[in-house]
Amino acid sequence: MKKTHSTLHSDQRELIHMLHKFQKENGYISPESISEISRQLKISKSEIFGVLTFYKAFTLEPRGKHVITICMGTACHVRGAPVILDEFKRGLGLEPGETTEDKLFTLETVNCVGACALGPIVISDGTYHGQMKTRDVKGIIEALKKEKKNNLE
Ligand code: FES
Repeated sequence: MKKTHSTLHSDQRELIHMLHKFQKENGYISPESISEISRQLKISKSEIFGVLTFYKAFTLEPRGKHVITICMGTACHVRGAPVILDEFKRGLGLEPGETTEDKLFTLETVNCVGACALGPIVISDGTYHGQMKTRDVKGIIEALKKEKKNNLE
């Protein structure tokens, strides 16, 4: 039977719902997740990849326990985001898009998170840090490392 426009729409909603679920469970969309979704929803893997590349919220790479995001949008850039990024790169030994071997940290960049007046902005695990200075970088990394230790105690 040919699918109607509204059926396709609800399929896509179901697909996005499942992608969110798998990403929440595993921290990323694994090849196994894609096969599972394809089987359950009876849609092709290429259709799933199409949605994955369209929605930037999904990632195909395993991410660290802590995600640090540096805003590199214009407003943050002119207020010093590049030096903040350099400091995080040095502190974590990562380039943007990379994850530490112990899977503790992922470093990312974005273009504007809508808080330009407070730039430069850094987001660590969803917490916004405004008017970042290079001297604040070490404290953010150390606080997240300590969080790991406390969780293990
Ligand atoms: S440019 Fe960074 S919040 Fe807008």
